[in-house]
Amino acid sequence: MRIPIIAGNWKMNKTTSETRAFCPEFIKLIDNVKGVEIVIAPPFTALSAAGDAIRDTIIKLSAQNIFWEEKGAYTGEISPLMLKEIGCGYCIIGHSERRQYFGETDDTVNKKIKTALNYEITPVFCIGEILKEREENRTMAVIGRQLKGGLRDLLESDISRIVIAYEPVWAIGTGKTATPQQAQEAHRFIRDFIRKKAGDKAADGIRILYGGSVTPENIKDLMAQDDIDGALVGGASLKPDSFAAIVRFS
Ligand code: 13P
Repeated sequence: MRIPIIAGNWKMNKTTSETRAFCPEFIKLIDNVKGVEIVIAPPFTALSAAGDAIRDTIIKLSAQNIFWEEKGAYTGEISPLMLKEIGCGYCIIGHSERRQYFGETDDTVNKKIKTALNYEITPVFCIGEILKEREENRTMAVIGRQLKGGLRDLLESDISRIVIAYEPVWAIGTGKTATPQQAQEAHRFIRDFIRKKAGDKAADGIRILYGGSVTPENIKDLMAQDDIDGALVGGASLKPDSFAAIVRFS
């Protein structure tokens, strides 16, 4: 049985004080929720405050990026050690916005995934095609390449510690969600890829999240698909009530 994960990617939203206001309100709304892992990913500056606010709750903390060295002359970067110390158990890696605006490649994603695993931080490894690639029927080729590059040289035992997020880029922030069937087809492809690379145990255990305009209205149909094990939520994770409604999908 795969425990679902609902993760909120706040992107470059919320100051520390806004984070302090969000948390208690959200905590109240998810009281008694069971059987789902809840994760929030605030920006770096608000991580510590979020960590304090969610202590002793079931909510877990994620970063949105990581660097692959522990310390040194890397101006502007944040190391795994720093994340670990403030209680980050997860880290989003390879989000399409980082690939698009900040030069993230399959290679840097691979380095970051290995680093996170070394520090026992669960990578939330993001993949997904742009609209042009989907229209040219290249979706599976693109996500296959991203999977191959991102997971290069990882052992089977490492792969089963990863969470994958399938986020079709054309569905992010556009209000245009993939249909449950489109999402399921990509998720099945991803699970089959993992089966070939790392065997049945890893494939059957790995959690594959869907991301891209997830809302309280569409979460149920998405979660009803066999290979969708949760969601990586952007816009709708910024308000306590909509994020809580998604968490309570069942
Ligand atoms: P939206 O939910 O705002 O479309 O963002 C999805 C996303 O990019 C999560 O990482």
